[in-house]
Amino acid sequence: MKYAARIESLATSKAECIALPIYDSLDMSASAANLNRISDGQISRILKNGDLRKEVGSTVLIHDVANCDIQRIILFNAGPKAGVTSKKFIVIIKKLIIALQSLSIKSASVSIRDFKCEGRSSEWLIERTIEYFESGTYEYLEMKGISKVERTLLNKINFLCSRELLNAVRAGIKRGKALAGGMQLAKNLANAPGNICTPSYLAKKARQLCRGKTNLSLSVLEERDMKKLGMGAFLAVSQGSDEPGKLVIINYQGARKTKQPHVLVGKGITFDTGGISLKPPPSMPEMIYDMSGAASVLGTLSCIAEQELPINVIGVLAAAENMPSGKATRPGDIIKTMSGQTVEILNTDAEGRLVLCDALTYIDKYKPASVIDVATLTGAIITSLGSVASGLFSNDDQLAEQIISAGEVACDRVWRLPIWEEYQTQIASAFADMANIGGKEAGSITAACYLARFAKAYRWAHLDIAGTAFQGSGPSKGCTGRPVALLCQYLYDQL
Ligand code: BES
Ligand code: MN
Ligand code: ZN
Repeated sequence: MKYAARIESLATSKAECIALPIYDSLDMSASAANLNRISDGQISRILKNGDLRKEVGSTVLIHDVANCDIQRIILFNAGPKAGVTSKKFIVIIKKLIIALQSLSIKSASVSIRDFKCEGRSSEWLIERTIEYFESGTYEYLEMKGISKVERTLLNKINFLCSRELLNAVRAGIKRGKALAGGMQLAKNLANAPGNICTPSYLAKKARQLCRGKTNLSLSVLEERDMKKLGMGAFLAVSQGSDEPGKLVIINYQGARKTKQPHVLVGKGITFDTGGISLKPPPSMPEMIYDMSGAASVLGTLSCIAEQELPINVIGVLAAAENMPSGKATRPGDIIKTMSGQTVEILNTDAEGRLVLCDALTYIDKYKPASVIDVATLTGAIITSLGSVASGLFSNDDQLAEQIISAGEVACDRVWRLPIWEEYQTQIASAFADMANIGGKEAGSITAACYLARFAKAYRWAHLDIAGTAFQGSGPSKGCTGRPVALLCQYLYDQL
């Protein structure tokens, strides 16, 4: 979709469709009132009839508006005049894009000048609008063969605004487009099935992102490099697969070289069978999404790099496939991590923490300003938080607060859980320095406790996105693009 900011008079507009806010389904916004005057009361007649329903986001379509050349109008219930909450705002935007898409139009105008969201800037409003318009029109079509897909005609949105808001709207468009692009990249990667999206495929996509851009550079650690570095945990996962594991490192340099980078580490298990601790068949197909963390890291870098933000960010994709085979790790095997700590692998299905722990040790060399790892790590987090909030764990209260507030702003929320010492005893091992599982209690916390043992040297947070990154089945099956919006907002807040 293309987006533009416009200052346009309704009296002379020839738009195919204009969306105008109505407060609480009855009270006309200034732009609606203006059109009401032009059309000799056509809008007030419709509102009096009660055709615009009381729920926020409800819409009503009007054809043949009198005394002007506008082809159609959509009135939408924009909630209270003072502004809606951000939750309601998103409800409205989601409904509006469905209404617009259902029409046989190529372009639409949305009047944004008198549509407000409590405590949010116009820039935020436009950024979110584009994010949810793009999400609402997204389809994963890359694997469609001959089955015909009917695509929507709509390909242009004009935001109608006042002259004073023009710059803010343009800034919002820039942010929104960059974010939507990053989210789309993440979705396309995560939705790609395991036979296509392998560790090599992730490395190829990262290379494509860096190609021709001077602020992005790429390096890839192959299995032989990881062997030299002593990454026994990562290799314990990838050794069971015929697909070679890769540690993909993307370096975005937007600030001077000496400025400490923020590091994002993504779990990139391109398919998680569970390994020898094989998963039961029903829960296996959705394990194509087990690289959603890595996808969100790549999507975030794409968004940041496109805007050439003055910040340094390093993205690391810990990419491997977890397979059972004659070469696979056995439950009970003991391996040595890059940190020197040894791990008794009691369950090969707890593989995410194994690839991540060596990545967390490796990135210490960058002397990071902060480190956030992003992983579809535990089924237990779905039990705790469902698909509403991602699980947050951190060894730094200030960093945790920053991530929580970025999540609020981006409408991509997290909820913090503890990583107290008391939980650490659950991953004690009789034979090694630790086990890779902590029993049936507090599974997300013990997974985070495991990671914390490798992240002592810097400010670190862990996001468990198993519940938020994708919907495994049903009509809206697919990757959600979370937590790209959260990560981008966190990085904006560091500028
Ligand atoms: N990738 C899974 C976690 C997961 C489950 C993600 C459901 C998305 C949806 C992870 O590798 C895993 O298998 N975790 C185990 C850990 C257990 C063996 C300690 C789990 O959650 O059951
Ligand atoms: Mn697993
Ligand atoms: Zn996994």
